[in-house]
Amino acid sequence: MNKVLLGMAFLLSGLLLISFKSNDWMGSDGLTIDSLRKVYAQPKQFWPKANVDKGVKFEELDTLQASPLDLTNDSVKRVSALGKLLFFDTRLSGANQISCATCHDPALQWADGKEVSVGHDQLPNIRNAPSLENVWIYSSFFWDGRANTLVKQAEGPISAHNEMNQDLKSLAKKLNRIKGYRAYFKAAFGTSTITNQQIFESLATFQQSIVSQDTKFDRFLKGDKHALNDQELLGLHLYRTKARCMNCHYGAYFTDKEFHNIGLTEYGNKNQDLGLYNVTKKPEDVGKFKTPGLRNVMQTGPWFHHGLVKSMDSLMVLYNMGMPEHTVLPGQEKDPLLPKNDKLLRGIMLNVRERKALIAFLEALSSPPLLMQVERLPQ
Ligand code: HEC
Ligand code: HEC
Repeated sequence: MNKVLLGMAFLLSGLLLISFKSNDWMGSDGLTIDSLRKVYAQPKQFWPKANVDKGVKFEELDTLQASPLDLTNDSVKRVSALGKLLFFDTRLSGANQISCATCHDPALQWADGKEVSVGHDQLPNIRNAPSLENVWIYSSFFWDGRANTLVKQAEGPISAHNEMNQDLKSLAKKLNRIKGYRAYFKAAFGTSTITNQQIFESLATFQQSIVSQDTKFDRFLKGDKHALNDQELLGLHLYRTKARCMNCHYGAYFTDKEFHNIGLTEYGNKNQDLGLYNVTKKPEDVGKFKTPGLRNVMQTGPWFHHGLVKSMDSLMVLYNMGMPEHTVLPGQEKDPLLPKNDKLLRGIMLNVRERKALIAFLEALSSPPLLMQVERLPQ
């Protein structure tokens, strides 16, 4: 009798094991987890074809690239070191209370963890602070691309009334009065008079040194085939195929560096933000925002330019249904500025397990935050 019971228990646990085995997934293409392991163990050119639309000039996912900053060059090193001090110095703000790092905190992966940033006088911004990790890969900056270089970008937050609220006319004068800074500027630029341009240039150079670190995914690409577990591997496959993410988030940094309208304009509401259109005034640019890179994205929520999406599960549900379309209200039919979602978006029909796998893959793009030591600021 005992033997029968024991046998039944054995059978039952076997059945349970089979039903919970992580590798019982099968794609419509007949691929299973075991076959995915084999396929993705090969060099990238033998991976399944990425699911991208005609005309998308995608690049395959890749390992981290070197930053353009040449730290073997002493003069570049001096400018970057000065930029680092300035980045952490609250005296760049009108009330001496806010530095770049207030909203781009290295411990928070160079973002601030808030829905929208809060600046001078506790005034809110309208947008979420993007991480500055790998920011040098872009050729336009801000969610709406309104600055073309990091040097140009820097004056924005310093002067904005709801960020650092510093009058740019007195910025250089203010720093000139801090004796300790003169030697740093002299070493970096060879002159003892500090100018705004030098301040912006130093900040830009320092930001070129902000890079993310190796992740499980990089280790997988470099040949450690067990760096990704079954769930993460499935996530990688879905990311490149069924989920269509590669249409916009591709290459070493998971971004095409382009602008798309993915249905988040809040058109007609008080939170309306038309993105790139504010800069170009072209109706076709309504609602377009820069595609953010996805390295360390699991650490930089809440997400999207408005910071309104607080959980990655909800974000996936939005993508799963092809993102919200603007409902045309009576009288809006002929409105030339009606936002139109990007044609690359469509419902992707992932089941819960597949969405979880996609999130697990994004998690595998994480690297530990950089421990930043900042020396005593000049007095
Ligand atoms: C009060 C918070 C706050 C402060 C202080 C702040 N930023 Fe930002 N930063 C933001 C927000 C919010 C955005 C996005 C704004 C937008 O896109 O309109 C942003 C965007 C950026 C971007 C563009 C990133 C990208 O992917 O395009 C860079 C670069 C940047 N900040 C650097 C700096 C530097 C350098 C300083 C200091 C001089 C600074 N920030 C100070 C909140 C802040
Ligand atoms: C049509 C191009 C496009 C496609 C396809 C696309 N994305 Fe995006 N993604 C964007 C743009 C543009 C944004 C920024 C939108 C905004 O904030 O207004 C974004 C934002 C995100 C964010 C938030 C990042 C942040 O820092 O706030 C995540 C996460 C993300 N996408 C993941 C994915 C995943 C996963 C897929 C595949 C299921 C995908 N995306 C498909 C263009 C796209």
